Amino acid sequence: MPVNETLRILRTVRYDAKHYSLFLQAGRVGPATLPGQFAMLQAGDGLRPYLRRAFSVADVATLAGVPCIEFVVRVVGVGTEALGRFAEGTPIPVLGPLGTPFPIDDLRVSDRVALVAGGIGLAPLVLLARRLAERGVPADLFYGGRNESEVLKRPDFERLLGAPRCRYATDDGSLGRRGLVTDLLQAALDAGTTYRRVFACGPQAMFRTLAALLARTGTDASFALESEMACGFGVCLGCVVPGRDGRFLTVCKEGPCLPPSAIDWGAV
Ligand SMILES: Cc1cc2nc3c(=O)[nH]c(=O)nc-3n(C[C@H](O)[C@H](O)[C@H](O)COP(=O)(O)OP(=O)(O)OC[C@H]3O[C@@H](n4cnc5c(N)ncnc54)[C@H](O)[C@@H]3O)c2cc1C
Ligand code: FES
Repeated sequence: MPVNETLRILRTVRYDAKHYSLFLQAGRVGPATLPGQFAMLQAGDGLRPYLRRAFSVADVATLAGVPCIEFVVRVVGVGTEALGRFAEGTPIPVLGPLGTPFPIDDLRVSDRVALVAGGIGLAPLVLLARRLAERGVPADLFYGGRNESEVLKRPDFERLLGAPRCRYATDDGSLGRRGLVTDLLQAALDAGTTYRRVFACGPQAMFRTLAALLARTGTDASFALESEMACGFGVCLGCVVPGRDGRFLTVCKEGPCLPPSAIDWGAV
């Protein structure tokens, strides 16, 4: 059940001019959140921007002993700019957790899964990596970004999953392999690695390529989708994507975590 509450900023950690982590008090939203779920944050004074903004809950942990929720944010406009400028202690209205989580309840220690992140799509995968590590499910990370400085939170992934399980791709070759993150996964599959399930979050182009690749290999998957959202809880229908069965799916309520086979990628 989503909670609507006001949580104070504990800390903002800047990675570069475009990316930061926002740590809020955990409140009731934090403990209730499952990996892949998101929250709607008011990113200004309620007038500009008027609507709350959607962010994946990146992690639920502690900061100097205080329970917190972390959001990893890429600055793209007025709301993401404003959120990054607020001082510690600023109260932020938060509604969450929202949407469907990544399916992990059926996974066992004998399974092996892959996490595929493109750019800011790393966000929901940190909490996922934490919960998989707690359950002892082995997970390989494939993470692609434009360059080394846009590949965020590497120490967290490497601590949770083990550094040898983390592979990177960058457009300019400054970290890991030069090229696309989907090429990394393709190379692992070509080498005979099989995954019980692939979890992914990233841009549409990555999703499209990945959906085709996983359909060819018959690999089960769950993608954390993004869409522009006004309400976040299934009322406005502003977030819909075309489904394979001819229906439209609400990313905020039926998603954001959906099997790629449910989406009509040709019509997205
Ligand atoms: C379920 C979900 C989870 C998300 N998780 C994260 C996250 O963890 N970290 C993060 O940085 N961002 C995340 N986003 C995207 C984030 O919601 C948008 O970047 C944010 O709403 C932009 O607000 P703004 O006021 O800064 O931009 P605006 O000033 O409103 O718009 C600036 C530009 O961003 C585009 N834009 C606005 N909203 C979105 C959107 N939802 N998706 C793609 N483009 C958009 C607009 O079309 C415009 O081109 C998520 C979105 C969804 C739906
Ligand atoms: S954002 Fe309103 S229905 Fe999904």
